[in-house]
Amino acid sequence: MNGNYADPVFVNRRTELQLFNDVLTALGAGERRHLALLGLRRIGKTILLDEVRARHPDACIVKIAIDTVVATPEGFALDIAALVLQGALRARGHPRTVTTQPRSLAAAAGLLGSGVTDHLDELLGLVDPAFGGEKRSYGQLLNKVFAFPAVVSDAANVPILMMLDEFQDIRKLLRFPGTDTLWAALREALDRRGRVAFVVAGSIVTAMRAILHEGNDPLFSRFQEVPLPPFGPEDTRELAEGVWYRIGLRWDQNASQRVHTLSQGFPLYAHVLAREAIEPARAAGGPVLGEHVDAAFERQIFDRNSQLSLYMQYLLEHALHAVQGENIPEAVLRTLAQAEGRRLSDLARSVHRPAPQLGRVVQQLISIDILRRDADGALWFADPVFPLWLATERDRQEPGLALRDPRTRERVMETLAERLRALQGAIGPLFERRVHNIARQFRGQTVSRNLFGLDGGTIALPSVTDVHNLHVADPDGLVGAARSTTEIDGVTVGSEFWLIEAKRVRHAVTVAVVARVLKKRVLVERAHDRKVDRVWIVSDAGFRTDARDLCEREGVLMTGARELTRLERAVAS
Ligand SMILES: Nc1ncnc2c1ncn2[C@@H]1O[C@H](COP(=O)(O)OP(=O)(O)O)[C@@H](O)[C@H]1O
Ligand SMILES: [Mg+2]
Repeated sequence: MNGNYADPVFVNRRTELQLFNDVLTALGAGERRHLALLGLRRIGKTILLDEVRARHPDACIVKIAIDTVVATPEGFALDIAALVLQGALRARGHPRTVTTQPRSLAAAAGLLGSGVTDHLDELLGLVDPAFGGEKRSYGQLLNKVFAFPAVVSDAANVPILMMLDEFQDIRKLLRFPGTDTLWAALREALDRRGRVAFVVAGSIVTAMRAILHEGNDPLFSRFQEVPLPPFGPEDTRELAEGVWYRIGLRWDQNASQRVHTLSQGFPLYAHVLAREAIEPARAAGGPVLGEHVDAAFERQIFDRNSQLSLYMQYLLEHALHAVQGENIPEAVLRTLAQAEGRRLSDLARSVHRPAPQLGRVVQQLISIDILRRDADGALWFADPVFPLWLATERDRQEPGLALRDPRTRERVMETLAERLRALQGAIGPLFERRVHNIARQFRGQTVSRNLFGLDGGTIALPSVTDVHNLHVADPDGLVGAARSTTEIDGVTVGSEFWLIEAKRVRHAVTVAVVARVLKKRVLVERAHDRKVDRVWIVSDAGFRTDARDLCEREGVLMTGARELTRLERAVAS
């Protein structure tokens, strides 16, 4: 048993840890692979990066919280230089703290040789106004900073993995004059020969994607995108039961299920709920029960100073601060929280504002991942707890009363259950995630061909180590507009390369839909210079006859709703 029960036991993320192993191994052999870790706030990016570092204590991994070092370009340069030097020295067996003081930096550089010293001197010259005088330019400074890891890696003869956490905040540097070369400097660092690889992690996924895809020499082609999803039920259970086990409590299975339902697999919430259920369970003197988890959740929602409430206040303030439009953003959030899954026009009517004005606000809220729009145009909160918290504002005015009143408590649970039902019925990510999870469990098993719309016999499924979404360039506008990108619902990593289209719509798949998917196949094959082994369309509303015919002719696999459930059971067993 290690650690404090209040610290989480690191759970799952096996695929991602394996990927990091591979990246580090390849880097050791001189091959650079760059990763972009994309996941919503508090989904576990930082803890994953820390876990990677803990598992590779001898590797030179430099982790930088970009959000904390971008106040000024000078500060950014000094912080990065210090951290890179410190990391390299530690990997060379000289652990020491390197501060951003020129003397500390110079001493550290001196230990690594003249190449490093020279580069550092130039960098310091650009930072210190007394040195560079009129000539100093932020653009040059950024070039020097991004080139620094490679210089150090060469001199120290150590591969370096640079982890840039909260990477989207690097855009703050663009507010300073002469920094429009930022992306070019970064591209150069990514493409530079040598043994430096980059991992960028970002919690505002929409913004991260915009950064990666922007411009005519986009960054995304250099990064492998690694989406970090919420936990599945098994992971949530492991996390919750790990907390209870370490404190010596017994638990009822229903308790960990409640943790998953209430947290929707968001690890931070799962962890808070597991911890907060300890007290009511102890008071009752028995195992942790589902009702203790519920009680913990209600407390967290009603108490203005609970960890969850404080985080929700932060989310709200952050959203209102980032989005312009007087009090409209707040009205949008509070109104939508009363009933999610509405379209813009519907929302505009409730807020009593013209739709175009509201549209701008909503778009901004989407760009910072507070809201999301599903394929049907309906609006939802990205976070599972935030809408509930917003909808219970009145109850928090008198938390004591709310907690004592069983009807109020019941109402919270009912609102929550309603939201989950609505979500489950909604189009989009949940369905896609379900399909991903099924494919992840293929494990080379053999199942009936019926499950894929084929006649008789069995089909050998590939071993799938991961499934992820993919954005591919569409230079000639094969699927969308010219020079746009197209999203692929899923591609498999493993023994075969599958392209997955997950359709949760009201109407059966048509020929046009199949034709579009076949074009996506072309784009993927071009972008990845690799043949797609199988195209698999999953449709909740089935397939039209002519669509079936086309699928059969093209060897496209088809799975409808009923087959999907059967397949789910078959692969899980
Ligand atoms: N793999 C995991 N195992 C255990 N707990 C986790 C895991 N991932 C996330 N958590 C919980 O969620 C919290 C938020 O994770 P964090 O890494 O800070 O999120 P992010 O960096 O994505 O905002 C952690 O403090 C921890 O309580
Ligand atoms: Mg983080």
